[in-house]
Amino acid sequence: MYVSDRPEGIERILFSEEQLKEKVAEIGRALTEEYDGKDPLFVCILKGSTVFFADLIREVKCRLEIDFFRASSYSGTKTTGSVEADESGLPDIKGRDVVLVEDIIDTARTLSRLKEIFLRHEPKSLKIVSLLDKPSRREVEGFSADYLGFEIEDLFVVGYGLDCDQQFRNLPYIGIYKP
Ligand code: IMP
Ligand code: MG
Repeated sequence: MYVSDRPEGIERILFSEEQLKEKVAEIGRALTEEYDGKDPLFVCILKGSTVFFADLIREVKCRLEIDFFRASSYSGTKTTGSVEADESGLPDIKGRDVVLVEDIIDTARTLSRLKEIFLRHEPKSLKIVSLLDKPSRREVEGFSADYLGFEIEDLFVVGYGLDCDQQFRNLPYIGIYKP
């Protein structure tokens, strides 16, 4: 068991459960407005956005479908620079209004690669939702989410689905991690 609410390495809480809930509801309202009557497909980018995704879809008050897609680029607290994505696991998106749901944009290599893969499969539309963004770390010039939760500084964060070497995804808040 964790001996406190804040396991070792969690320097401080950046976004509390309440702050996350409020922000997710706000994004949900905007998405409801955009997608009402369109039967969109919400795609969860595994594994980091699972917790955000589960909360978000319940704040989108219109008809929708969900699916999952796996991508990864990080090892520990460092990006590996190469994005792994197995296209054979791609949902059937042709002609669909697709919403990609991601936990965080850092260099933006992952999402720009995923965007390229998804667009090749001819969705009717494609929009990107990200809970967090670290714009100062950008390597893909000009890349941004269509819907964003919070902009943050160049910090390594964990919790609410985000991990460091697969740990801390179960923390209910987002905390700054210093190994
Ligand atoms: P990008 O390709 O550099 O934009 O990296 C995005 C991916 O890196 C995200 O989907 C996360 O899995 C991971 N990542 C980036 N920054 C953090 C962080 O601060 N904590 C945990 N994972 C992160
Ligand atoms: Mg991720």
